[in-house]
Amino acid sequence: MQFSKASFIYFSATGTTRKIVRAVKNALPVSKTDYNLLRKPVEQDIQIASDNLLVAAMPVYNGRIPALASESLKRMKGQGTPAIAIVVYGNREYDDALLEVKTMLEEQGFFVLGCGAFIARHSIFPNVANERPDADDLAQVSAFTQKCVEKLAGMVSPDGYAAPAVKGNIPFMPLKTVPMKPSSGDDCDFCGICEKICPTKAIAITEDEIITDPDQCISCGACITVCPIETRQYRGADYEKFKGKFTARFGARKENETYL
Ligand SMILES: Cc1cc2nc3c(=O)[nH]c(=O)nc-3n(C[C@H](O)[C@H](O)[C@H](O)COP(=O)(O)O)c2cc1C
Repeated sequence: MQFSKASFIYFSATGTTRKIVRAVKNALPVSKTDYNLLRKPVEQDIQIASDNLLVAAMPVYNGRIPALASESLKRMKGQGTPAIAIVVYGNREYDDALLEVKTMLEEQGFFVLGCGAFIARHSIFPNVANERPDADDLAQVSAFTQKCVEKLAGMVSPDGYAAPAVKGNIPFMPLKTVPMKPSSGDDCDFCGICEKICPTKAIAITEDEIITDPDQCISCGACITVCPIETRQYRGADYEKFKGKFTARFGARKENETYL
């Protein structure tokens, strides 16, 4: 089987999932369509024809993919279309997230050529896996993508195809949030960039006040990434204490896992 186009759906608040997506794109010399969920959620069903390839790449949030990402991923409809499932995680664990992406794709008319769990800087505790994905990780993403393409080239039809089994449990672990929320320091000049990027509209700015709604905020870190004066951060004694413990427990390098 061949494919003539590739579509990419991904959510990347702090840019690491996007880096992995870029490495996949570089390994696919076909025309591409992008569904970048930080810019815009997918609100209507999108049909992806059987001669296309869909790449779904999501970060791991508490062992699952973020709810706002699955809302959009649900809109992608395959027609016996090949797909690649990817999760990106911060060196702790990916738990049920990869199985979640794979299962969603299969339920929506795709057959999954390969699944990958790749490691990247932790967006809440950035000293964990700080330099990742590194050049070696990106080479692994490229090799994984090429193997998926070769697998597809060797197939005549998806009939009877068995996708690789991946780690994870059904029912999936419950969706959870983290108590840590970013805030702005006294030097905030209310430029409004964080308010614009926030995918859940959790930030409200008045002339002299910036308010973050803790119930809306999903701690994705997009606001921290775009802050031009780096005043948007996680703060406080509890955060610092937890960061120390987390780093001690999950700081040791882990390796990427792929399933083909
Ligand atoms: C709310 C939240 C929960 C997270 N949960 C996990 C987790 O369960 N396991 C893990 O290893 N990393 C976890 N991470 C780290 C992210 O998966 C990781 O940093 C990822 O690279 C972020 O992708 P991005 O740069 O595209 O935003 C979490 C990050 C956030 C913001």
